[in-house]
Amino acid sequence: MRNLVLTYGSGAERLARRISQISGAPLAEVKRRQFPDGEQYVRVCGNVSGKDVAIVQSFALSPDSLLVEYSLIADAVRGMGCRQVIGVFPYLAYARQDERFNEGEALSAKVFARLIEASGTDAVYTVDLHLHRFRTINEVFEVPATNLSAMPLLAENYLRHSPGGRVLVVGPDSESSQWAKAVAEVIPSVCTILEKERLGDREVRVSDLSGGMCSAAVIVDDMISTGKTILEVLGKLKESGVGRVDALVTHSLLVEGAYSKLREGGLNSLITTDTIDNDYASVSVAPLLADALLRDFASDR
Ligand code: R5P
Repeated sequence: MRNLVLTYGSGAERLARRISQISGAPLAEVKRRQFPDGEQYVRVCGNVSGKDVAIVQSFALSPDSLLVEYSLIADAVRGMGCRQVIGVFPYLAYARQDERFNEGEALSAKVFARLIEASGTDAVYTVDLHLHRFRTINEVFEVPATNLSAMPLLAENYLRHSPGGRVLVVGPDSESSQWAKAVAEVIPSVCTILEKERLGDREVRVSDLSGGMCSAAVIVDDMISTGKTILEVLGKLKESGVGRVDALVTHSLLVEGAYSKLREGGLNSLITTDTIDNDYASVSVAPLLADALLRDFASDR
């Protein structure tokens, strides 16, 4: 334990405090402010000399500015003589642009990873990274990287409040099958994976449901942004006569009134985590991240 110290960016301060409480690793506070011209200032307060410093930062909603903040904190702790910088990113941005879909586009997932590494990051931990065309996190990062999953925790939470019986687990698209299958291992269920066509930033079409229905269904995805994906699947399930539909989602970006739209659409509940600070999180990933950090950095090496 002596070697691990936590610190945080503004994207994950609350979560960093939880990880610190659970793991017992001390938390170095960060003072931040913005100059009149918009530049950021950070100052890390605490003893990190000779320590492995885990910087907890989520890159939701203003990822570019949060990346600069992360880089400044990483440089600060390096300047204070830390031994290693561990990037703990409960939510990692830019992962969905994992291909140059059209000529002239950037391969954003790789660019974001290179920028994190260029900030002097020695190891990375994240949760339910949007892995699709890159099959593993090690194809994205060159430094050692660990992708944890909150799906078993979300499924266990669902089971605690479910009426029982067999449930239909639905993944909206092919990439969601990894998360839907993880949930289906915990919940007595049948699992179906739909096909999704993205028509624009706020417009998607999903394929029709086929096969036998259950009286309850859960839609499983890694993230909700506008809510359009979940809404489309919810509509199909309701049309098919499914009475109770819940959504299990790790990362709740919930932009443009997504939560209200889902509730108005008849969603029974959104079971989600605190990888991104939000009002609806019923599952914390703090124990998951604390365990991983204690396992890998708790010794007095
Ligand atoms: C993309 O494939 C992701 O897994 C999510 O399905 C997507 O980002 C959700 O976005 P939205 O809520 O805007 O439909």
